[in-house]
Amino acid sequence: MKKKKIALITGITGQDGAYLAKFLLKKNYKVFGIKRRTSTINTSRIDDIYQEDTSNKKNNFILKYGDVTDPANINSLINEILPDEVYNLAAQSHVQVSFATPLYTSMTNSLGVINILESIKELRSKKKIKFYQASTSEMFGNHTQKILNEKSNFKPVSPYGSSKVFAYWLTKNYRDSYDIFAVNGILFNHESPLRGETFISRKVSIHVAKKFLGEKKILRIGNLYSKRDWGHAEEYVEGMWKMMQHKEPQDLILATNKSYTVKEFIERAFKEINIKLKWVGKGLKEKAVNSKTGEICVMVDEKYYRPNELHYLKGNPQKAFKNLKWKPKINFNTLIKEMVHSDIAKFENDKF
Ligand code: NAP
Ligand code: GDD
Repeated sequence: MKKKKIALITGITGQDGAYLAKFLLKKNYKVFGIKRRTSTINTSRIDDIYQEDTSNKKNNFILKYGDVTDPANINSLINEILPDEVYNLAAQSHVQVSFATPLYTSMTNSLGVINILESIKELRSKKKIKFYQASTSEMFGNHTQKILNEKSNFKPVSPYGSSKVFAYWLTKNYRDSYDIFAVNGILFNHESPLRGETFISRKVSIHVAKKFLGEKKILRIGNLYSKRDWGHAEEYVEGMWKMMQHKEPQDLILATNKSYTVKEFIERAFKEINIKLKWVGKGLKEKAVNSKTGEICVMVDEKYYRPNELHYLKGNPQKAFKNLKWKPKINFNTLIKEMVHSDIAKFENDKF
């Protein structure tokens, strides 16, 4: 019988970690996830696949405590598990928060990568371990180029983006210097019902769902005019896996090649609950009212502005299509529909 492949995922409790774990279990992998100790339980995204009984040989999903900033911990876990593939998804992944916590963000997003790559390097005579780094479109910063590709240069505009550029180059350095199969997946924004609640897409879907169920609050929002290339996380984790199965390690973009403003996202989400928004005012005074009733639905709040903004993102996924046969199918409207209806179902029986 063919031996099961072993994957180690950092960032297992996050959006992508959860989708990737489920995807790899379906592909017959044994999956280990690294989870931080937290004062309140934060495994809701993976509770459906978690089994407590680690002595059961049929248990193919195992969680280990750890933190990518702790080299001793990472080294001992990689030595113990001896994975075939490591997917490094762990990050302080919120751009606005990275302005408030630049050092912590860099320790996790950059130095954490060194800890993993060093362990893989030290083990390479014993086992060839493949490495996936969760790189990001945020590395590109503001460009005049309308569609970004793998050759576009990096000019990050946030501590988060800068920390990820460092990690991108480390990944490439270890690949070139030590012949490690190490790849950067340069992923544009991807969302889902499992998206963190403070990212714009989920903040909006939760708000709209609760409004549908009777809540009266106003949605307070920052920059309405930035544009993002939004895809679905479930499709993007398949792209990660495909990058790791390719014969050559290559850094590839995953994106939809479509871009929409935050304002368009909000309009589309409200439309899902049959509210047509009418925008009035400008700048900090801009707001949206229900076009039928005049009720204020959305207001701009300076609190959500960032010290610097990445205004526009659109990626060209042609290379991934050509080399991996990876192509996103879920479009902007379908993504928003799924997120809003999932949150309506989630909050239907809750009090909020
Ligand atoms: P997410 O939901 O914020 O998840 C981040 C994960 O990293 C969580 O499990 C978190 O654990 C864990 N983590 C944070 N600091 C850690 C540390 N020091 N040690 C170990 N684990 C740590 O992020 P995501 O949306 O799934 O994104 C996954 C990765 O892709 C991230 O690296 C992100 O930067 C990158 N990325 C995301 C997108 C996107 O649009 N989603 C696009 C491009 C790149 P806790 O639950 O304990 O906080
Ligand atoms: N989060 C948030 N909250 N963003 C807001 C808000 C708000 O209230 N109001 C406006 N925005 C704008 C932000 O200024 C940004 O231009 C856009 O909405 C998207 O913000 P996020 O959803 O926080 O995502 P992001 O693009 O900054 O970063 C995400 O995508 C990157 C890939 O491009 C994260 O997932 C990163 O980890 C990822 O690398």
